[in-house]
Amino acid sequence: MTNELISPLSGLRRLIETDQVGPNENTFLDGKDPVWSPHNKIINVTPGPAWGSELVDQFSSTQTRGMRGPDVARFFTTVRAEYAKMVGMQEGGRALFFTGSGTTGTEAAAGSCRFPSEADSDTPAVITMEIGAFSTAMGNCVENLGRNVVRLKSELGEDLAYDKCREVLEKDTEHKVQLVMAPLNETGTGVTTDPKKIRALLDELKHPALVVIDGISAIGSMPANMTEMGIDMLMGCSQKGIMGTPGIGMLSLSPKAVEKAYEADKALADAGIKKGQHYLHLTKMIDAMDSMGLHIETPGNYAQFAVALDTLAIEGIDRVCERHKDCSEVYRAAVLAAGFELVAKEEHLRSNAVTAVKSPEGFGVKKITEVLNIMFSKHGVEAAAIPGEPNLGWRLCATGGIQPQHAMAASIAFLMACEEAGIPVDVEKGIAAATKTYREVVKYHRPLPGVDAYGR
Ligand SMILES: Cc1ncc(COP(=O)(O)O)c(C=O)c1O
Repeated sequence: MTNELISPLSGLRRLIETDQVGPNENTFLDGKDPVWSPHNKIINVTPGPAWGSELVDQFSSTQTRGMRGPDVARFFTTVRAEYAKMVGMQEGGRALFFTGSGTTGTEAAAGSCRFPSEADSDTPAVITMEIGAFSTAMGNCVENLGRNVVRLKSELGEDLAYDKCREVLEKDTEHKVQLVMAPLNETGTGVTTDPKKIRALLDELKHPALVVIDGISAIGSMPANMTEMGIDMLMGCSQKGIMGTPGIGMLSLSPKAVEKAYEADKALADAGIKKGQHYLHLTKMIDAMDSMGLHIETPGNYAQFAVALDTLAIEGIDRVCERHKDCSEVYRAAVLAAGFELVAKEEHLRSNAVTAVKSPEGFGVKKITEVLNIMFSKHGVEAAAIPGEPNLGWRLCATGGIQPQHAMAASIAFLMACEEAGIPVDVEKGIAAATKTYREVVKYHRPLPGVDAYGR
């Protein structure tokens, strides 16, 4: 039935009358007597595209302003240089922006540093360390590119398999291994790793392989400094910690990585072997940036990226990381006190971007989905399940512009939705613990002069 107060001229009225919006007979809402909520602002606590910053939305052009005009190259170079500073890229390295999502950077890295002897070698050229859905996807990418790869897998919730990595590297006396690839933050399981351990292992063994790190859900959420962590290649994306729309896959390189990429491409060319990569060709991109400073193909939204970098700089990257930690502390307090377990098996592995929560024994995919549906449809909170593990549980994330008050609301929504779905949960204890943590972490906000800090 249509409310007569909705103007007959309104497009909304037409949508309602023609049954194009609102509860569908077959949805979860059937029989729940839902109310209209046209003003809802969904609190999105999925990993990404992240619930971004209103400022980024307000100030970014929706389009890169030209890609060949005067001074565009200088603008692109400046934005990438600012990004390089944020991720602590080493002097003499390169920060590259591939148009696409985070995986474009991963694929460009995964196809690089391939020498002619790789195909016939008994020793792998690439090691991938896999601890969840996204690092498994990274391993698939390397394998699908036809690389000679050894894939070192850990149990879900565990750390990287450093010991197995040591075994492979110790046997590699001829230094055939070129890349050691691992995630800094496994978004699937909410596990944060320590790339410094890979760096230390390579240094100890005097092995020249490159440390290649997937920082796609880490950059802009937790410390991800290439120099401090000894990272040679760092992948990122524009739609998580950077808070923009998807469209840019960043790949930043140490000088050593640049050198090795060229050395390998020259060796392939000398041997008359095609690299098998065109769009995501690493040295081709470096050539383009070093010569014209312009993208050969169409660039992603640099203008939006620039605004996002500014907002992170205004907040201060240390405070950004602290805020993500604050939000994650609220989640952890809520779910642990309510009786849940985290997927991350040890405390030091717990991610400050993704809190992955286990569903209790006997409550599988159907209940997990029901909880997500209740959170969304009743509490206006969008959370996520665990990719690749439909019966494992949920993820409450703190990427992008999430602040403790949103984490608080999302925690309450989660606990209440579990209760409504019939999952054993101590809602009162959970809320009490979340509130206590919220009280400890919440801070006064300092508005930007002349700008409505809340984007109203
Ligand atoms: C750790 C990690 N790696 C890779 C990806 C894939 O990135 P994209 O979807 O931007 O290609 C994601 C996406 O969530 C991720 O979290």
